[in-house]
Amino acid sequence: MDRRNFLANTGIAAGSLLFNPLKSTGAAAKPANSAKKKLALVGTGIRGVNMFGRDLINDYGEYIELVGLCDINPGRLNFAEGYIGAKCPTFTNLVEMIEKQKPEVLIVTSEDSTHHTVIIKGMEMGCDIITEKPLTIDENKAQEIYDAQKRTGRNIIVTFNYRYPPYRAKMKELLIEGLVGEINTVDFHWNIDHSHLTRYMQRWHGYKEKGGSLWVHKSTHHFDMVNWFLNSEPEEVFAYASLDRFGKNGIFRGDNCRKCAHTDKCAYYWDITKNQHLMDLYVNNEKHDGYIRDNCVFRESIDIYERHSAVIKYANGAVLNYSLTGDTDYDGYWIAFNGTKGRLEARIEGYPEKSYAEMTFTPIGRYTDEKPRIIRVDYSRGGHWGGDPIMLDKLFKAPDTPDPLNQQATLRDGIMSILTGVAARKSVETGKTIKIEDLTVLKPQAKRI
Ligand SMILES: NC(=O)c1ccc[n+]([C@@H]2O[C@H](COP(=O)([O-])OP(=O)(O)OC[C@H]3O[C@@H](n4cnc5c(N)ncnc54)[C@H](O)[C@@H]3O)[C@@H](O)[C@H]2O)c1
Repeated sequence: MDRRNFLANTGIAAGSLLFNPLKSTGAAAKPANSAKKKLALVGTGIRGVNMFGRDLINDYGEYIELVGLCDINPGRLNFAEGYIGAKCPTFTNLVEMIEKQKPEVLIVTSEDSTHHTVIIKGMEMGCDIITEKPLTIDENKAQEIYDAQKRTGRNIIVTFNYRYPPYRAKMKELLIEGLVGEINTVDFHWNIDHSHLTRYMQRWHGYKEKGGSLWVHKSTHHFDMVNWFLNSEPEEVFAYASLDRFGKNGIFRGDNCRKCAHTDKCAYYWDITKNQHLMDLYVNNEKHDGYIRDNCVFRESIDIYERHSAVIKYANGAVLNYSLTGDTDYDGYWIAFNGTKGRLEARIEGYPEKSYAEMTFTPIGRYTDEKPRIIRVDYSRGGHWGGDPIMLDKLFKAPDTPDPLNQQATLRDGIMSILTGVAARKSVETGKTIKIEDLTVLKPQAKRI
């Protein structure tokens, strides 16, 4: 199996098998047993059992204690208990878990459309929250979370691991230093390849009501990156999107890949039975909740998009030209910042072959004799271009280390990053330009404070 297929088949995240040893973000004193942070995990799917389950116990067990696991699927929960090795009680009822185990922090890795109920109940019962992206899937749920946070005073961190790869931190540093001057426009074009898109189309991600469409589920990462790079917030959004290949566009369809009569002619056929981990997590537990992991990508009920284009005006005057394309065989992205002093750009592979990322700075020639130059940054080991372990260190090992680049994302960041996607979705549906200030009580800030 080649590297790309290995990643696609195992579900290991893009950029996860990189080269240089993990550089820790800082040393932290080992707490006494009683001082370990008491965490509980809600949602024992693939993200939960790996990054916030087994990896957490193995890599941060000195600093945290997992006191409970919760999922609505009892079979998956049972598998997760053994796989994670946390030796803690399991629950299909969130309230019961919080009452009995009294976690200080809930880690939310359930399906996107359920995040708000878990977050709000958790805060009401006295827990702080560490939630996976997207914070939630629409503006009303975002407002409910916002109100509950104000009511309860609890803390919410959104795990935007895309802020943490070392080369993105370098990019942020260069922008703060003013390398490109005032930023006028941002070009940002993200491609996910067919195998990546197929995994989305096969699961709950294929429905707006479950993941908010890829405008929210996936692009929340990208919009958060731009909000963070610009240190500003989106004001207006206009967008186009379409579903051209998948869903009802297919000329044949089956129940799911395992039972399909068309496997020999389907470009998207995927044999889940070859992956024991996915069999254990999903197929063996279908009987409890009907969650089919290898659903047909041509089922007519799919209502998300595969091609997305948007123009986003920021409160500081900058304009973002953005696209998310899901129907190519290229996985990776281009980003460029065009400013009053020059252009900083990067092309980054989703499955990098090199051990480093490169950015090019091209100064505006009429003001300077400076030549274009390349800035190279090594990748570090770990998921998502080396970002995951750095983020986890900050969350669990050394939470008090300074955060000069503001990499740790707040509730406001989580809300702002989904609102661009929500506005894009509304723009596609209505043909109108959508104002962010019309969606929740939050008014976009020109300079994020
Ligand atoms: N930051 C990243 O790079 C990244 C990568 C992968 C996934 N994620 C996020 O992690 C979350 C989980 O994704 P996944 O791929 O593991 O999905 P998954 O479908 O494998 O797992 C979701 C789990 O949530 C459970 N669940 C559904 N409703 C629930 C409820 N009300 N209470 C408790 N459990 C419930 C399901 O039974 C399932 O086990 C998603 O929000 C996703 O967006 C983030």
